[in-house]
Amino acid sequence: MAYRWTNTLTKADVTPKSAYLNRRQILAGTIGLGAIGLAGGAAAQGNLEPNTLEEITSYNNYYEFGTGKNDPAQNAHRLVTSPWSIKVDGMVDNPGDYALDDLLAGLSVEDRLYRFRCVEAWSMVVPWNGIELADILDRVGVQSRAKYVAFETVVQPENMIGVQRRVLDFPYVEGLRLDEAMHPLTIMATGIYDEPLYNQSGAPIRLVVPWKYGFKSIKSIVRITLTDREPPTSWNKANAREYGFYSNVNPNVDHPRWSQATERRIGGGLFAPRQDTLMFNGYPEVAPLYAGQDLSVDI
Ligand code: MTE
Repeated sequence: MAYRWTNTLTKADVTPKSAYLNRRQILAGTIGLGAIGLAGGAAAQGNLEPNTLEEITSYNNYYEFGTGKNDPAQNAHRLVTSPWSIKVDGMVDNPGDYALDDLLAGLSVEDRLYRFRCVEAWSMVVPWNGIELADILDRVGVQSRAKYVAFETVVQPENMIGVQRRVLDFPYVEGLRLDEAMHPLTIMATGIYDEPLYNQSGAPIRLVVPWKYGFKSIKSIVRITLTDREPPTSWNKANAREYGFYSNVNPNVDHPRWSQATERRIGGGLFAPRQDTLMFNGYPEVAPLYAGQDLSVDI
């Protein structure tokens, strides 16, 4: 099964979970992305081997539930995800507090197998189920003055040990330029492997922007705001020198404290070679969004 990023996937193209798992077992230990030698771009997509659900849901960043990689898996059962509503405000025709089901009703859920590259230089491959953000934005009616989309994560202080400890300035906030938000690669994920998102993965709905470092993919979203100003973002607020607004995956621009040229594939085993990091994380189709920008300046 060659998974593609395109928005043309139909339900018939979807590999059932059992088939994923069988294939995973057959290939386990024999083929890794490094061995395949990813060249980047759509051609490489067919070779993507998904991480297991266990890997995807036990090695997480969700600072509201602690800073250790296993803390979210331990603590996120405390997140209350039902009922869930999302406030949509700012420069939209139809602002309001939407029950999640109402906001998504009738929109098509797609299967997207995406590389996921954390700014910390580890990576996974995740089979998401999600809805194109553009479909949601079309539903609420973006006004022509809007230039950016801002997102906000829920805060449940009594349930979130990381919020109690103030490890970041919460709520966690993120943002995209409107053209990035409308790009067909950008999804709001509601599931992984055809199961609803686990809490530690950002239940019930989180952003996924596969060509950007993972911290842009904000979890458990309760507010979407259309604005004409570049919105503040959590990691930029925490350390502006190290984390910019764009945060496109770029092997040529190192983090001030480590190289971004290579990455460690989670689940690859202790002795697996690091693999090369790809420009835009292997999604060169987004390059036109940044025509005329110097991506060593607009980090
Ligand atoms: N969203 C919230 N609300 N809080 C967080 O701490 N961490 C970000 C991002 N979204 C984070 C978040 C970071 S740094 C990464 S790498 C990804 O979530 C991790 O997603 P995963 O745990 O599903 O792999």
